[in-house]
Amino acid sequence: MVPRHRGWKALCYRAGALLRGKGLCVTLSVRTAVFPAAGLGTRFLPATKTMPKEMLPLVDKPIIQYAVEEAVAAGIDQIVMVTARGKTAMIDHFDIDVELETFLEERGKLDQLAAVRHVSSLARIGAVRQGPPLGLGHAVCITRDLVGDQPFAVVLADDVIDADPPAIRQLIDVFDRVQGPVVAVERVPLDQISRYGVVRAEPLGDGVHRITDLVEKPSRDQAPSDLAIMGRYVLTPDIFAVLAGVREDRTGEIQLTSGLRELLRQRPLYAYEVRGTRHDTGTMLGFLKASMYFAMQRGELREPLGAYLRTLLGEDPARYR
Ligand code: UTP
Repeated sequence: MVPRHRGWKALCYRAGALLRGKGLCVTLSVRTAVFPAAGLGTRFLPATKTMPKEMLPLVDKPIIQYAVEEAVAAGIDQIVMVTARGKTAMIDHFDIDVELETFLEERGKLDQLAAVRHVSSLARIGAVRQGPPLGLGHAVCITRDLVGDQPFAVVLADDVIDADPPAIRQLIDVFDRVQGPVVAVERVPLDQISRYGVVRAEPLGDGVHRITDLVEKPSRDQAPSDLAIMGRYVLTPDIFAVLAGVREDRTGEIQLTSGLRELLRQRPLYAYEVRGTRHDTGTMLGFLKASMYFAMQRGELREPLGAYLRTLLGEDPARYR
């Protein structure tokens, strides 16, 4: 089914499509997004043994498509994916499939045809292979030649964010105001803080903060705040030179947070509390919650699924413990 964008999303999407269709460009501050997606997805094994975790579906769309649609709705028209061996399905998903389109056209399956064509017309997609998974910082660093000398977004598709305006658009708007790198943050309970990069920051108002320090996966006692970094960033190209000099941490990975910490010595960095509903689909529970969340937004599924869930819980809750 072709997704229906609402409100701001719809306006952006339609305006972008119209202008692109007429061969016109809009001058936007951020046009490129990097999608680091070379991770092994070990938390979903064995499902992810041969299938990228980004291709797991939430209802009928793979996780990566939600993120690409968000970026496109935010005005991004060039996407650089960082992939790895065995993850080509992710790139193929956004390519045209003439045989499939012809088949659907001949059978008169026009809704499905529109859905398939929508996916392949979303954005220009380039890819770079990471080789050994040396960490998020390394994944971003190797996109340097493809991104060039311009500000760019970084989108971790695991974080599926339902927001209007789109989460990346919110960050770009803050970037335009503060003229410096911005990371998305969310307040998380302290018993979960050690899973995240965390910022120490001074509030500037309206959800914007000036970062004074960043720590990767601190213990609860050492966390500088409850502001955890989410999978959305708008960065400036000076991060590449910094990342090239960052050393591997104890786990053998080059962390993006370490690069940002180094960049903080050179320029101000900002954090923004994105408004929207986020699901971390990189975890089992987050993935299941996101599936339910998006299914319940679908007219044809809401009622029967709701009734089924009530039965599961009401019938004999102990059976499902
Ligand atoms: P995760 O920490 O979620 O790791 O990476 P993962 O490998 O994807 O999943 P698990 O933990 O094994 O289940 C966060 C993001 O950074 C990307 C991942 O693809 C994901 O989008 N990443 C991570 C890379 O692109 N390269 C890396 O070397 C590491």
